Amino acid sequence: MAATFVAMEPAVVKVGLLGCGNVGGALVELVDEQRDAIADRTGLRLEVARVAVRNTAKQRAVELGSDVLTNDPVSVVEDPEVDVVVELIGGIEPARELILTALQNGKAVVTGNKELLANVGAELFEAAEKAGVDLLFEAAVAGGIPLIRPLRESLAGERVQRILGIVNGTTNFILTRMTEEGSSFHEALAEAQELGYAERDPTADVEGFDAAAKAAIIATVAYGVRVVAGDVYREGISSVTPADIANTGRFGYVIKLLAVTESDGDGVGVRVHPAMVPKEHPLAAVRESFNAVFVEGAAVGDLMLYGRGAGGRPTASAVLGDVIDAASNRRRGTHAGLGALGKARIRPIEDLSSEYYVALEVVDEPGVLAAVAGVFGDHRVSINHAYQEGIGKDARLIVITHRAVERDMQATLKDLRDLDVVDRVGSLLRVVGQ
Ligand code: HSE
Repeated sequence: MAATFVAMEPAVVKVGLLGCGNVGGALVELVDEQRDAIADRTGLRLEVARVAVRNTAKQRAVELGSDVLTNDPVSVVEDPEVDVVVELIGGIEPARELILTALQNGKAVVTGNKELLANVGAELFEAAEKAGVDLLFEAAVAGGIPLIRPLRESLAGERVQRILGIVNGTTNFILTRMTEEGSSFHEALAEAQELGYAERDPTADVEGFDAAAKAAIIATVAYGVRVVAGDVYREGISSVTPADIANTGRFGYVIKLLAVTESDGDGVGVRVHPAMVPKEHPLAAVRESFNAVFVEGAAVGDLMLYGRGAGGRPTASAVLGDVIDAASNRRRGTHAGLGALGKARIRPIEDLSSEYYVALEVVDEPGVLAAVAGVFGDHRVSINHAYQEGIGKDARLIVITHRAVERDMQATLKDLRDLDVVDRVGSLLRVVGQ
């Protein structure tokens, strides 16, 4: 007897959107463009049913009916018809309250809100677990790059030793311009602002706060422990000079703002700072505003994920993947959690060991190099190279050390600042990725 195939009607999934800016608008467009393809592939027909915005009268690139738009976000998270809530308003409140309400109402939640997750993520993950629903957040780290799902699912059985990420596009753009065009930090920042990468107040990007929030989320997912933004050691790129870039370039390094998470079973180290990356390392080739995440696993070895870390459509692509995942899980009566998050012992930066680059503005007189070298020696920091740049009042000493312990390096810097012949201690850069 011939088998008969009955075409199943796709299941309608109603999406409630909180915020309809750059990413929200792109999400509405993508859902429209991909609706049939998604239905064919997954059996799910997505419908953006409710959209909460601050100003319903505002002209938008996407058309939304008056029955869809509202200025009351609570009505979206309370709407019994809505299956999946997408939070794209950013910040901690009212996003936190709205997400908690949505979860308590049994809705799956998708968010791209790194600030929220890096500060009160544990509370939200617990609420999602209690309600037995998904809280997915692929877009919160590295925009369009699939990272959270690979870490959580594909690498669930992997001992992830270290993750090195270029997770801030604005700073990568600035450092690329400084490296390739010889621009100063301020010139490159102005260009990033003109192109719309950097905000008018660029602090969150250039001082590493954005990358630190992302590093906390990466560490939480990779190691299954609670890490918050405040646990992350953080330095930005505003004091990196074109001279630092040229000097480290001469020794075979490119300067990148790296988010580094590492675990050795004894604790978790999470830090963000400008780093000297060897030119042959794959991260050194990540230019312009691109992001990349390099994973070092015990069994898998080295992996790299590369792509757009920001922008409407790339970020909306990550959100859409989560919406589909959440809707499929819902249909199967299951959900994906992070499991019970343990409390991490956060390893202080002082325990780190690295090779270092130090730039010192010094008096140009006989004996200065010996005095400076003496301070390094007093703290057991061994010098690999030392040379003078400029003469007279422009004299600078560049020192590159062998591997040393951060605690000893910091003690060295403190004593160097007290030395009469040192006018100023400039950049301190660490080598990462050897
Ligand atoms: N401002 C961020 C960046 C994107 O420059 O990568 C949002 O996290």
